[in-house]
Amino acid sequence: MAPPMTDVVRFLLDGEARDLRGIDPTRTVLEVLRNDLRRTGTKEGCAEGDCGACTVLVGDLADDESGVRWRAVNACIQFAPMLRGKAVMTVESLGTADTLHPVQQAMVDHHGSQCGFCTPGIIMSLYGRAVGASGTDAPVAEVLAGNLCRCTGYGPIIAAAEATPSETAPDVAEGLKALAPGMLSLEYEDALAGMTRRWITPRNLDELAQATAAYPNPTFVCGATDVGLWVTKQRRALETVISLSEVAELKTMTREADGGLRIGAAVTYAAALNALSQMYPDLGAMMRRLGSVQVRNAGAIGANIANGSPIGDMPPALIAAGASLVLRRGDTQRTMPLEDFFLAYGKQDRAADEIVEAVIAPPPKPGVLFKVYKISKRFDQDISALCAAFALEIVGGTVRSARIAFGGMAATPKRAPACEAVLIGKPWTAETVEIAAAALARDFTPLSDMRASAAYRMLAAQNLLRKAFIESQAGAVETRVLEHG
Ligand SMILES: Cc1cc2nc3c(=O)[nH]c(=O)nc-3n(C[C@H](O)[C@H](O)[C@H](O)COP(=O)(O)OP(=O)(O)OC[C@H]3O[C@@H](n4cnc5c(N)ncnc54)[C@H](O)[C@@H]3O)c2cc1C
Ligand code: FES
Ligand code: FES
Repeated sequence: MAPPMTDVVRFLLDGEARDLRGIDPTRTVLEVLRNDLRRTGTKEGCAEGDCGACTVLVGDLADDESGVRWRAVNACIQFAPMLRGKAVMTVESLGTADTLHPVQQAMVDHHGSQCGFCTPGIIMSLYGRAVGASGTDAPVAEVLAGNLCRCTGYGPIIAAAEATPSETAPDVAEGLKALAPGMLSLEYEDALAGMTRRWITPRNLDELAQATAAYPNPTFVCGATDVGLWVTKQRRALETVISLSEVAELKTMTREADGGLRIGAAVTYAAALNALSQMYPDLGAMMRRLGSVQVRNAGAIGANIANGSPIGDMPPALIAAGASLVLRRGDTQRTMPLEDFFLAYGKQDRAADEIVEAVIAPPPKPGVLFKVYKISKRFDQDISALCAAFALEIVGGTVRSARIAFGGMAATPKRAPACEAVLIGKPWTAETVEIAAAALARDFTPLSDMRASAAYRMLAAQNLLRKAFIESQAGAVETRVLEHG
Protein backbone atom coordinates (compact mmCIF):
# COMPACT_ATOMS: atom_id res chain seq x y z
CA MET A 1 0.00 0.00 0.00
CA ALA A 2 1.37 3.43 -0.94
CA PRO A 3 2.18 5.59 2.09
CA PRO A 4 -0.25 8.48 2.75
CA MET A 5 0.83 11.71 1.10
CA THR A 6 1.33 15.13 2.67
CA ASP A 7 2.34 18.33 0.93
CA VAL A 8 4.19 20.19 3.65
CA VAL A 9 7.83 20.30 4.68
CA ARG A 10 8.02 21.94 8.11
CA PHE A 11 11.31 23.05 9.62
CA LEU A 12 12.72 25.77 11.87
CA LEU A 13 14.43 28.84 10.47
CA ASP A 14 16.06 30.80 13.29
CA GLY A 15 13.86 28.89 15.71
CA GLU A 16 10.60 29.80 13.92
CA ALA A 17 8.52 27.10 12.24
CA ARG A 18 8.32 27.48 8.45
CA ASP A 19 6.25 25.47 5.99
CA LEU A 20 7.13 24.74 2.40
CA ARG A 21 3.98 23.64 0.59
CA GLY A 22 3.53 21.98 -2.76
CA ILE A 23 7.22 22.09 -3.63
CA ASP A 24 9.03 20.06 -6.24
CA PRO A 25 10.94 17.69 -3.94
CA THR A 26 14.04 17.89 -6.12
CA ARG A 27 14.45 21.61 -5.51
CA THR A 28 17.56 22.30 -3.54
CA VAL A 29 17.76 23.87 -0.10
CA LEU A 30 19.73 26.68 -1.73
CA GLU A 31 16.92 27.46 -4.20
CA VAL A 32 14.33 27.44 -1.44
CA LEU A 33 16.41 29.68 0.83
CA ARG A 34 17.21 32.21 -1.86
CA ASN A 35 14.02 32.24 -3.93
CA ASP A 36 11.23 31.36 -1.51
CA LEU A 37 12.60 32.64 1.80
CA ARG A 38 14.70 35.50 0.39
CA ARG A 39 17.75 34.45 2.37
CA THR A 40 19.95 35.73 -0.44
CA GLY A 41 23.08 35.94 1.70
CA THR A 42 23.55 32.26 0.94
CA LYS A 43 25.27 32.19 -2.47
CA GLU A 44 25.54 29.82 -5.38
CA GLY A 45 29.11 29.47 -6.64
CA CYS A 46 29.41 26.04 -8.18
CA ALA A 47 26.18 24.13 -7.41
CA GLU A 48 28.23 20.97 -6.86
CA GLY A 49 29.48 21.09 -3.31
CA ASP A 50 32.97 22.35 -4.12
CA CYS A 51 33.14 26.05 -3.27
CA GLY A 52 31.23 26.38 0.02
CA ALA A 53 29.54 29.70 -0.90
CA CYS A 54 26.20 28.09 -0.01
CA THR A 55 27.25 26.84 3.46
CA VAL A 56 24.45 26.83 6.04
CA LEU A 57 24.03 25.08 9.38
CA VAL A 58 21.41 22.38 9.79
CA GLY A 59 20.47 21.15 13.25
CA ASP A 60 18.96 17.80 14.26
CA LEU A 61 17.53 16.74 17.57
CA ALA A 62 20.04 14.40 19.25
CA ASP A 63 18.79 10.80 19.47
CA ASP A 64 18.23 11.14 23.23
CA GLU A 65 16.53 14.52 22.59
CA SER A 66 19.03 16.15 24.96
CA GLY A 67 20.04 18.88 22.55
CA VAL A 68 20.66 19.89 18.96
CA ARG A 69 23.51 18.67 16.75
CA TRP A 70 24.45 21.34 14.23
CA ARG A 71 26.25 20.50 11.00
CA ALA A 72 27.70 22.79 8.32
CA VAL A 73 26.46 21.55 4.91
CA ASN A 74 26.37 22.69 1.31
CA ALA A 75 22.81 23.93 0.65
CA CYS A 76 23.31 23.59 -3.12
CA ILE A 77 23.30 19.80 -3.01
CA GLN A 78 20.75 19.20 -0.27
CA PHE A 79 17.14 18.68 -1.33
CA ALA A 80 14.41 20.76 0.28
CA PRO A 81 12.54 17.77 1.83
CA MET A 82 15.74 16.95 3.74
CA LEU A 83 15.01 19.99 5.93
CA ARG A 84 11.89 18.41 7.33
CA GLY A 85 11.98 18.27 11.14
CA LYS A 86 15.31 20.13 11.26
CA ALA A 87 16.55 23.60 12.15
CA VAL A 88 18.41 25.91 9.77
CA MET A 89 20.70 28.89 10.25
CA THR A 90 21.95 31.06 7.41
CA VAL A 91 24.34 34.00 7.43
CA GLU A 92 21.33 36.24 8.11
CA SER A 93 20.88 34.40 11.41
CA LEU A 94 24.08 36.01 12.72
CA GLY A 95 24.42 39.59 13.87
CA THR A 96 21.82 42.27 13.29
CA ALA A 97 21.46 45.20 10.94
CA ASP A 98 23.47 47.30 13.45
CA THR A 99 25.81 44.81 15.10
CA LEU A 100 28.11 42.35 13.46
CA HIS A 101 28.49 38.89 14.92
CA PRO A 102 32.02 38.28 16.33
CA VAL A 103 32.88 36.06 13.33
CA GLN A 104 31.80 38.79 10.93
CA GLN A 105 33.69 41.42 12.95
CA ALA A 106 36.82 39.26 12.94
CA MET A 107 36.59 38.92 9.15
CA VAL A 108 36.38 42.73 8.88
CA ASP A 109 39.19 43.30 11.38
CA HIS A 110 41.52 40.86 9.65
CA HIS A 111 40.63 41.88 6.08
CA GLY A 112 39.29 38.42 5.31
CA SER A 113 36.69 39.53 2.80
CA GLN A 114 37.51 40.85 -0.63
CA CYS A 115 35.09 39.83 -3.39
CA GLY A 116 32.47 39.22 -0.71
CA PHE A 117 30.71 36.52 -2.71
CA CYS A 118 32.39 33.62 -0.93
CA THR A 119 32.30 35.46 2.43
CA PRO A 120 28.86 34.35 3.71
CA GLY A 121 29.84 30.70 3.24
CA ILE A 122 33.17 31.28 4.97
CA ILE A 123 31.39 33.06 7.84
CA MET A 124 29.06 30.07 8.24
CA SER A 125 31.97 27.61 8.24
CA LEU A 126 33.79 29.68 10.87
CA TYR A 127 30.61 30.08 12.91
CA GLY A 128 30.12 26.31 12.57
CA ARG A 129 33.60 25.81 13.98
CA ALA A 130 32.89 28.23 16.83
CA VAL A 131 29.78 26.28 17.86
CA GLY A 132 31.32 22.83 17.28
CA ALA A 133 29.36 22.07 14.10
CA SER A 134 32.31 21.04 11.99
CA GLY A 135 31.81 17.38 12.73
CA THR A 136 35.27 17.00 14.24
CA ASP A 137 37.70 18.88 16.46
CA ALA A 138 39.07 20.08 13.16
CA PRO A 139 41.85 22.64 12.86
CA VAL A 140 40.99 25.88 11.02
CA ALA A 141 42.56 24.87 7.72
CA GLU A 142 40.57 21.66 7.69
CA VAL A 143 37.34 23.56 8.39
CA LEU A 144 38.09 25.91 5.50
CA ALA A 145 39.01 23.19 3.00
CA GLY A 146 35.47 23.31 1.61
CA ASN A 147 35.38 27.10 1.19
CA LEU A 148 37.18 28.49 -1.81
CA CYS A 149 38.58 32.01 -1.72
CA ARG A 150 40.54 32.87 -4.84
CA CYS A 151 41.56 36.40 -4.01
CA THR A 152 42.61 37.21 -0.45
CA GLY A 153 44.52 34.06 0.19
CA TYR A 154 43.62 32.22 3.31
CA GLY A 155 45.97 33.99 5.74
CA PRO A 156 43.53 36.76 6.77
CA ILE A 157 40.63 34.30 6.95
CA ILE A 158 42.60 31.93 9.17
CA ALA A 159 43.54 34.90 11.36
CA ALA A 160 39.85 35.82 11.61
CA ALA A 161 39.00 32.25 12.58
CA GLU A 162 41.65 32.18 15.25
CA ALA A 163 40.35 35.46 16.68
CA THR A 164 36.81 34.08 16.95
CA PRO A 165 35.88 32.73 20.40
CA SER A 166 33.90 29.52 20.84
CA GLU A 167 30.23 29.95 21.60
CA THR A 168 27.05 27.97 22.00
CA ALA A 169 24.57 27.70 19.17
CA PRO A 170 20.94 28.61 19.92
CA ASP A 171 19.13 25.75 21.68
CA VAL A 172 16.10 24.99 19.53
CA ALA A 173 15.55 21.49 20.94
CA GLU A 174 12.05 22.28 22.24
CA GLY A 175 11.04 23.69 18.85
CA LEU A 176 12.35 20.58 17.11
CA LYS A 177 10.50 18.30 19.51
CA ALA A 178 7.30 20.19 18.72
CA LEU A 179 7.74 19.36 15.01
CA ALA A 180 7.69 15.61 15.81
CA PRO A 181 7.69 14.42 12.21
CA GLY A 182 6.46 10.99 11.12
CA MET A 183 7.12 9.50 7.69
CA LEU A 184 7.19 12.17 5.00
CA SER A 185 5.60 11.38 1.63
CA LEU A 186 5.38 14.19 -0.87
CA GLU A 187 3.77 14.07 -4.28
CA TYR A 188 4.24 16.78 -6.88
CA GLU A 189 2.88 17.01 -10.41
CA ASP A 190 5.65 18.23 -12.70
CA ALA A 191 3.75 19.18 -15.84
CA LEU A 192 6.91 20.34 -17.60
CA ALA A 193 8.68 17.02 -17.12
CA GLY A 194 5.38 15.13 -17.57
CA MET A 195 5.75 13.12 -14.36
CA THR A 196 4.60 12.80 -10.80
CA ARG A 197 7.57 13.32 -8.55
CA ARG A 198 7.54 11.66 -5.15
CA TRP A 199 9.74 11.97 -2.10
CA ILE A 200 9.42 9.56 0.78
CA THR A 201 11.35 9.73 4.05
CA PRO A 202 10.73 6.56 6.09
CA ARG A 203 11.69 6.76 9.76
CA ASN A 204 12.39 3.06 10.33
CA LEU A 205 12.92 -0.20 8.44
CA ASP A 206 9.22 -1.13 8.52
CA GLU A 207 8.27 2.14 6.85
CA LEU A 208 11.11 1.64 4.39
CA ALA A 209 9.78 -1.82 3.49
CA GLN A 210 6.33 -0.29 2.98
CA ALA A 211 7.78 2.41 0.72
CA THR A 212 9.86 0.03 -1.42
CA ALA A 213 6.91 -2.38 -1.76
CA ALA A 214 4.82 0.50 -3.15
CA TYR A 215 7.64 1.87 -5.35
CA PRO A 216 10.04 -0.99 -6.15
CA ASN A 217 12.35 0.95 -8.47
CA PRO A 218 13.11 4.17 -6.59
CA THR A 219 16.12 6.42 -6.47
CA PHE A 220 17.58 6.01 -3.01
CA VAL A 221 19.21 9.03 -1.51
CA CYS A 222 21.10 9.51 1.73
CA GLY A 223 23.27 12.62 2.11
CA ALA A 224 22.77 13.65 -1.55
CA THR A 225 26.43 14.56 -2.10
CA ASP A 226 26.26 12.43 -5.25
CA VAL A 227 22.53 12.50 -6.06
CA GLY A 228 22.35 16.28 -5.59
CA LEU A 229 24.71 16.68 -8.54
CA TRP A 230 22.56 14.44 -10.75
CA VAL A 231 19.95 17.20 -10.50
CA THR A 232 22.06 20.38 -10.36
CA LYS A 233 24.62 19.35 -12.98
CA GLN A 234 23.14 16.55 -15.06
CA ARG A 235 19.57 17.88 -14.88
CA ARG A 236 18.29 14.38 -14.32
CA ALA A 237 14.57 14.07 -13.60
CA LEU A 238 14.04 11.95 -10.49
CA GLU A 239 10.62 10.39 -10.24
CA THR A 240 10.37 8.54 -6.93
CA VAL A 241 13.04 9.26 -4.34
CA ILE A 242 13.25 7.30 -1.11
CA SER A 243 15.46 9.00 1.44
CA LEU A 244 17.39 6.70 3.79
CA SER A 245 18.90 9.40 5.95
CA GLU A 246 16.19 9.29 8.65
CA VAL A 247 15.80 5.51 8.93
CA ALA A 248 16.65 5.04 12.61
CA GLU A 249 18.26 1.60 12.23
CA LEU A 250 20.55 2.88 9.45
CA LYS A 251 21.76 5.81 11.54
CA THR A 252 23.29 3.69 14.28
CA MET A 253 26.82 2.50 14.92
CA THR A 254 27.28 -0.46 17.21
CA ARG A 255 30.14 -2.58 18.54
CA GLU A 256 30.23 -6.22 17.50
CA ALA A 257 31.10 -8.90 20.08
CA ASP A 258 34.62 -9.20 18.59
CA GLY A 259 35.22 -5.42 18.87
CA GLY A 260 34.39 -4.72 15.23
CA LEU A 261 32.29 -1.73 14.25
CA ARG A 262 28.90 -2.06 12.55
CA ILE A 263 28.26 1.18 10.70
CA GLY A 264 24.67 1.73 9.58
CA ALA A 265 24.44 2.82 5.96
CA ALA A 266 23.21 6.32 6.80
CA VAL A 267 26.03 7.10 9.23
CA THR A 268 27.97 10.08 7.90
CA TYR A 269 31.72 10.25 7.52
CA ALA A 270 31.79 12.87 10.29
CA ALA A 271 29.85 10.64 12.68
CA ALA A 272 32.09 7.61 12.05
CA LEU A 273 35.41 9.44 11.88
CA ASN A 274 36.48 9.16 15.51
CA ALA A 275 35.50 5.50 15.91
CA LEU A 276 37.19 4.48 12.65
CA SER A 277 40.28 6.57 13.43
CA GLN A 278 40.70 4.75 16.74
CA MET A 279 40.59 1.38 15.02
CA TYR A 280 42.50 2.35 11.88
CA PRO A 281 44.45 5.61 12.39
CA ASP A 282 45.60 5.71 8.76
CA LEU A 283 41.99 5.45 7.56
CA GLY A 284 41.07 8.32 9.87
CA ALA A 285 43.87 10.46 8.40
CA MET A 286 42.61 9.70 4.89
CA MET A 287 39.00 10.49 5.83
CA ARG A 288 40.04 13.97 6.98
CA ARG A 289 41.03 14.57 3.35
CA LEU A 290 37.84 13.12 1.89
CA GLY A 291 35.72 15.96 0.47
CA SER A 292 35.35 18.78 2.98
CA VAL A 293 33.77 19.25 6.39
CA GLN A 294 30.47 20.05 4.61
CA VAL A 295 30.67 16.89 2.46
CA ARG A 296 31.65 14.72 5.43
CA ASN A 297 28.78 16.15 7.47
CA ALA A 298 26.26 15.03 4.83
CA GLY A 299 27.76 12.07 2.92
CA ALA A 300 27.26 8.56 4.26
CA ILE A 301 29.82 5.76 4.24
CA GLY A 302 27.17 3.23 3.14
CA ALA A 303 26.29 5.46 0.20
CA ASN A 304 29.94 5.80 -0.80
CA ILE A 305 29.97 2.01 -1.06
CA ALA A 306 26.52 1.76 -2.68
CA ASN A 307 27.36 4.11 -5.54
CA GLY A 308 30.14 1.75 -6.59
CA SER A 309 32.49 4.40 -7.93
CA PRO A 310 35.93 2.98 -8.83
CA ILE A 311 37.44 6.07 -7.17
CA GLY A 312 35.33 6.11 -4.00
CA ASP A 313 37.73 6.43 -1.08
CA MET A 314 36.17 4.16 1.52
CA PRO A 315 36.04 0.80 -0.30
CA PRO A 316 39.80 0.14 -0.69
CA ALA A 317 40.51 0.70 3.01
CA LEU A 318 37.47 -1.27 4.14
CA ILE A 319 38.24 -4.14 1.74
CA ALA A 320 41.83 -4.30 3.01
CA ALA A 321 40.47 -4.33 6.57
CA GLY A 322 38.32 -7.36 5.67
CA ALA A 323 34.95 -5.59 6.02
CA SER A 324 31.66 -7.23 5.20
CA LEU A 325 28.53 -5.68 3.76
CA VAL A 326 24.96 -6.22 4.92
CA LEU A 327 22.19 -5.78 2.34
CA ARG A 328 18.45 -5.63 3.00
CA ARG A 329 15.41 -6.12 0.81
CA GLY A 330 12.15 -5.83 2.75
CA ASP A 331 12.77 -8.07 5.75
CA THR A 332 15.40 -10.21 4.04
CA GLN A 333 19.05 -9.67 4.86
CA ARG A 334 22.21 -11.03 3.30
CA THR A 335 25.88 -10.48 4.09
CA MET A 336 28.90 -10.68 1.82
CA PRO A 337 32.58 -9.77 1.84
CA LEU A 338 32.72 -6.14 0.75
CA GLU A 339 34.93 -6.86 -2.26
CA ASP A 340 32.28 -9.19 -3.75
CA PHE A 341 29.78 -6.33 -3.97
CA PHE A 342 31.56 -4.63 -6.88
CA LEU A 343 30.84 -6.62 -10.04
CA ALA A 344 31.81 -4.34 -12.92
CA TYR A 345 31.89 -0.64 -13.75
CA GLY A 346 28.60 0.85 -12.49
CA LYS A 347 27.30 -2.62 -11.56
CA GLN A 348 26.98 -3.78 -7.99
CA ASP A 349 25.47 -6.96 -6.53
CA ARG A 350 22.28 -5.20 -5.42
CA ALA A 351 18.67 -5.45 -6.61
CA ALA A 352 16.75 -2.26 -7.47
CA ASP A 353 14.71 -2.34 -4.26
CA GLU A 354 17.55 -3.60 -2.07
CA ILE A 355 19.56 -1.31 0.15
CA VAL A 356 22.98 -1.36 1.70
CA GLU A 357 22.07 -1.70 5.36
CA ALA A 358 25.47 -1.62 7.07
CA VAL A 359 29.17 -2.22 6.68
CA ILE A 360 31.00 -4.13 9.37
CA ALA A 361 34.65 -3.25 9.92
CA PRO A 362 36.41 -6.00 11.90
CA PRO A 363 38.88 -5.05 14.63
CA PRO A 364 42.46 -4.80 13.35
CA LYS A 365 44.51 -7.90 14.06
CA PRO A 366 47.21 -7.12 16.60
CA GLY A 367 50.48 -6.22 14.92
CA VAL A 368 49.03 -5.83 11.43
CA LEU A 369 50.63 -3.10 9.34
CA PHE A 370 47.64 -1.10 8.06
CA LYS A 371 48.35 1.71 5.61
CA VAL A 372 46.01 3.88 3.55
CA TYR A 373 47.11 6.37 0.90
CA LYS A 374 45.11 8.84 -1.18
CA ILE A 375 46.71 10.37 -4.25
CA SER A 376 44.97 13.46 -5.60
CA LYS A 377 46.06 16.69 -7.23
CA ARG A 378 45.02 18.78 -4.22
CA PHE A 379 45.48 17.75 -0.61
CA ASP A 380 41.84 18.44 0.38
CA GLN A 381 38.51 18.40 -1.36
CA ASP A 382 39.66 16.42 -4.36
CA ILE A 383 38.67 13.10 -5.85
CA SER A 384 41.43 10.48 -5.81
CA ALA A 385 43.43 9.59 -8.88
CA LEU A 386 44.12 6.44 -6.94
CA CYS A 387 43.74 5.18 -3.43
CA ALA A 388 45.66 2.28 -1.89
CA ALA A 389 45.21 0.26 1.27
CA PHE A 390 47.54 -2.41 2.67
CA ALA A 391 46.83 -4.77 5.57
CA LEU A 392 49.94 -6.88 6.10
CA GLU A 393 50.38 -9.35 8.92
CA ILE A 394 54.11 -9.64 9.48
CA VAL A 395 55.25 -12.22 12.01
CA GLY A 396 58.93 -12.68 12.77
CA GLY A 397 59.86 -10.68 9.68
CA THR A 398 57.73 -12.84 7.34
CA VAL A 399 54.49 -11.81 5.70
CA ARG A 400 51.86 -14.20 7.04
CA SER A 401 48.84 -12.66 5.32
CA ALA A 402 48.18 -9.77 2.97
CA ARG A 403 45.07 -7.88 1.91
CA ILE A 404 45.81 -5.16 -0.59
CA ALA A 405 43.14 -3.10 -2.36
CA PHE A 406 43.19 -0.19 -4.75
CA GLY A 407 40.73 2.36 -6.06
CA GLY A 408 41.32 4.12 -9.38
CA MET A 409 43.27 1.20 -10.84
CA ALA A 410 40.37 -0.75 -12.38
CA ALA A 411 36.66 -0.40 -13.19
CA THR A 412 35.83 -1.21 -9.57
CA PRO A 413 37.61 -1.02 -6.21
CA LYS A 414 39.67 -4.23 -6.36
CA ARG A 415 42.14 -6.42 -4.51
CA ALA A 416 45.60 -7.17 -5.90
CA PRO A 417 45.82 -11.00 -5.80
CA ALA A 418 49.11 -11.36 -7.71
CA CYS A 419 50.84 -8.82 -5.48
CA GLU A 420 49.39 -10.45 -2.35
CA ALA A 421 50.55 -13.92 -3.53
CA VAL A 422 54.11 -12.70 -4.00
CA LEU A 423 54.21 -11.29 -0.48
CA ILE A 424 52.63 -14.13 1.50
CA GLY A 425 55.22 -16.40 3.09
CA LYS A 426 58.14 -14.17 2.04
CA PRO A 427 60.46 -12.08 4.18
CA TRP A 428 59.29 -8.45 4.46
CA THR A 429 62.33 -6.99 2.71
CA ALA A 430 63.04 -4.45 0.00
CA GLU A 431 63.77 -7.31 -2.41
CA THR A 432 60.37 -8.93 -1.82
CA VAL A 433 58.64 -5.57 -2.13
CA GLU A 434 60.25 -5.01 -5.55
CA ILE A 435 58.95 -8.35 -6.85
CA ALA A 436 55.51 -7.62 -5.37
CA ALA A 437 55.47 -4.13 -6.92
CA ALA A 438 56.20 -5.64 -10.34
CA ALA A 439 53.31 -8.08 -9.81
CA LEU A 440 50.85 -5.16 -9.65
CA ALA A 441 51.19 -5.01 -13.45
CA ARG A 442 49.48 -8.44 -13.55
CA ASP A 443 46.68 -7.25 -11.26
CA PHE A 444 45.76 -4.02 -13.00
CA THR A 445 45.53 -2.35 -16.40
CA PRO A 446 44.65 1.18 -15.32
CA LEU A 447 43.06 3.80 -17.57
CA SER A 448 44.26 7.25 -18.51
CA ASP A 449 41.81 10.03 -17.72
CA MET A 450 41.77 13.65 -16.56
CA ARG A 451 43.03 12.67 -13.13
CA ALA A 452 46.08 10.65 -14.16
CA SER A 453 47.63 8.65 -16.98
CA ALA A 454 47.75 4.86 -16.89
CA ALA A 455 51.53 4.95 -16.53
CA TYR A 456 51.33 7.41 -13.62
CA ARG A 457 48.74 5.28 -11.84
CA MET A 458 50.82 2.11 -12.15
CA LEU A 459 54.02 3.79 -11.01
CA ALA A 460 52.23 5.51 -8.11
CA ALA A 461 50.63 2.21 -7.03
CA GLN A 462 54.02 0.51 -7.01
CA ASN A 463 55.56 3.42 -5.14
CA LEU A 464 52.84 3.29 -2.50
CA LEU A 465 53.79 -0.30 -1.72
CA ARG A 466 57.42 0.83 -1.45
CA LYS A 467 56.26 3.68 0.80
CA ALA A 468 54.40 1.28 3.07
CA PHE A 469 57.61 -0.72 3.37
CA ILE A 470 59.74 2.35 4.14
CA GLU A 471 57.22 3.56 6.73
CA SER A 472 57.30 0.16 8.42
CA GLN A 473 61.05 0.34 9.06
CA ALA A 474 62.37 1.45 12.44
CA GLY A 475 63.64 5.03 12.32
CA ALA A 476 61.97 5.70 8.98
CA VAL A 477 61.81 9.32 7.92
CA GLU A 478 58.32 10.82 7.83
CA THR A 479 57.14 10.51 4.25
CA ARG A 480 53.86 12.33 4.26
CA VAL A 481 51.91 15.33 5.37
CA LEU A 482 49.39 14.37 8.05
CA GLU A 483 48.43 17.79 9.37
CA HIS A 484 46.90 20.70 7.54
CA GLY A 485 49.68 23.26 7.49
C1 LIG B 1 32.52 18.33 -3.28
C2 LIG B 1 32.53 16.83 -3.17
C3 LIG B 1 33.70 16.19 -2.82
C4 LIG B 1 33.72 14.80 -2.72
N1 LIG B 1 34.90 14.20 -2.38
C5 LIG B 1 34.93 12.86 -2.30
C6 LIG B 1 36.14 12.21 -1.95
O1 LIG B 1 37.16 12.85 -1.69
N2 LIG B 1 36.14 10.86 -1.91
C7 LIG B 1 35.02 10.12 -2.17
O2 LIG B 1 35.08 8.90 -2.10
N3 LIG B 1 33.87 10.70 -2.51
C8 LIG B 1 33.80 12.05 -2.58
N4 LIG B 1 32.63 12.66 -2.93
C9 LIG B 1 31.48 11.82 -3.27
C10 LIG B 1 30.46 11.61 -2.17
O3 LIG B 1 30.65 12.43 -1.08
C11 LIG B 1 30.40 10.20 -1.68
O4 LIG B 1 30.23 9.25 -2.66
C12 LIG B 1 29.37 10.03 -0.55
O5 LIG B 1 29.77 9.00 0.28
C13 LIG B 1 27.99 9.73 -0.98
O6 LIG B 1 27.19 9.71 0.20
P1 LIG B 1 25.77 10.38 0.22
O7 LIG B 1 25.11 9.95 1.46
O8 LIG B 1 25.88 11.82 -0.02
O9 LIG B 1 25.15 9.65 -1.06
P2 LIG B 1 23.92 9.95 -2.03
O10 LIG B 1 24.31 11.06 -2.93
O11 LIG B 1 22.73 10.19 -1.19
O12 LIG B 1 23.83 8.57 -2.74
C14 LIG B 1 24.93 8.08 -3.51
C15 LIG B 1 24.50 6.84 -4.31
O13 LIG B 1 24.25 5.74 -3.45
C16 LIG B 1 22.88 5.31 -3.52
N5 LIG B 1 22.56 5.00 -2.15
C17 LIG B 1 22.74 5.81 -1.08
N6 LIG B 1 22.54 5.11 0.05
C18 LIG B 1 22.21 3.86 -0.31
C19 LIG B 1 21.91 2.68 0.42
N7 LIG B 1 21.94 2.62 1.77
N8 LIG B 1 21.61 1.56 -0.27
C20 LIG B 1 21.58 1.56 -1.62
N9 LIG B 1 21.89 2.64 -2.35
C21 LIG B 1 22.20 3.78 -1.71
C22 LIG B 1 22.15 6.45 -4.18
O14 LIG B 1 21.02 6.00 -4.90
C23 LIG B 1 23.23 6.99 -5.11
O15 LIG B 1 23.34 6.16 -6.24
C24 LIG B 1 32.56 14.05 -3.00
C25 LIG B 1 31.37 14.70 -3.33
C26 LIG B 1 31.35 16.08 -3.42
C27 LIG B 1 30.07 16.77 -3.77
S1 FES C 1 27.44 26.58 -4.46
FE1 FES C 1 29.46 25.85 -4.36
S2 FES C 1 29.36 24.41 -2.71
FE2 FES C 1 27.34 25.03 -3.00
S1 FES D 1 36.82 37.00 -0.86
FE1 FES D 1 35.62 35.93 -2.36
S2 FES D 1 37.00 34.76 -3.58
FE2 FES D 1 38.18 35.65 -1.98
